[in-house]
Amino acid sequence: MAWPDFSVRADEPEWMDVRDYPLEDFAAVLDDLETVNLVTLAAPPTLGFLGRLTQGWPAGSELRVADLGYGQGGMLRRIHRWATERGFRPRLTGVDMNPRCRTLAQARTPGDMEITWHEGDLFDWAPAERPHAIISALFTHHLPTPDVIRLLRWQEATASHGWFVNDLHRHWFAWGGFSALAFVARWHPCVRHDGALSVRRAFVPADWHHMLAEAAIGDAAVRWHPLFRLCVGRLKGAAVPE
Ligand SMILES: C[S@@+](CC[C@H](N)C(=O)[O-])C[C@H]1O[C@@H](n2cnc3c(N)ncnc32)[C@H](O)[C@@H]1O
Repeated sequence: MAWPDFSVRADEPEWMDVRDYPLEDFAAVLDDLETVNLVTLAAPPTLGFLGRLTQGWPAGSELRVADLGYGQGGMLRRIHRWATERGFRPRLTGVDMNPRCRTLAQARTPGDMEITWHEGDLFDWAPAERPHAIISALFTHHLPTPDVIRLLRWQEATASHGWFVNDLHRHWFAWGGFSALAFVARWHPCVRHDGALSVRRAFVPADWHHMLAEAAIGDAAVRWHPLFRLCVGRLKGAAVPE
């Protein structure tokens, strides 16, 4: 295999976006992706952001969070537990354009955990009420750069309190390390292919600074988290809910 060029974003499509996997196969892909998320410490940066966003909020406050490209919904279930433990009333919505994601997310969510799983393209979604926070994980690298800029503008206008993008750092070590780990762990071929490609489709800090400038967003924070997560967040400094 040729050594990839990490100086620019790759534009080959991920298999999960273009192949029509039967439900059972797709479930195996998303189960392995959930394991990848656990091993690569996906949740702490997003939960840390929500902790900062809700600092000083009284117990009993409603917390509205929208998750874009939820997959099988593991992040929203984590957020539901996190919010409930802190005495908040979570009102969570996931948006994903793949109908199989809704089927699988519903099947994996306990009956007493109320989460709305919306099926559709996020650019066609208009929330009835503004979410306090709009988050995503391993999602923005699926989009071409002009659409990421469009997304930044949209979430800046739509979220009342802030937004957080949890994605990957385009780096040779992340690509090599993931490829080796995925081979040893014998993850689904789609996860092996798409995981390595995701790193090549992902971003370096300069990409985010450029896209934020294009979207006219001045004070977002671009931060690296273990393991090779490159995250972008903005707290709007909105008032604590009554
Ligand atoms: C790699 S998965 C990430 C799943 C999950 N967030 C995670 O961290 O494991 C990316 C998800 O984004 C969804 N997606 C891609 N483009 C989308 C769009 N324009 N609107 C809504 N969902 C989209 C895909 O269907 C897929 O489920």
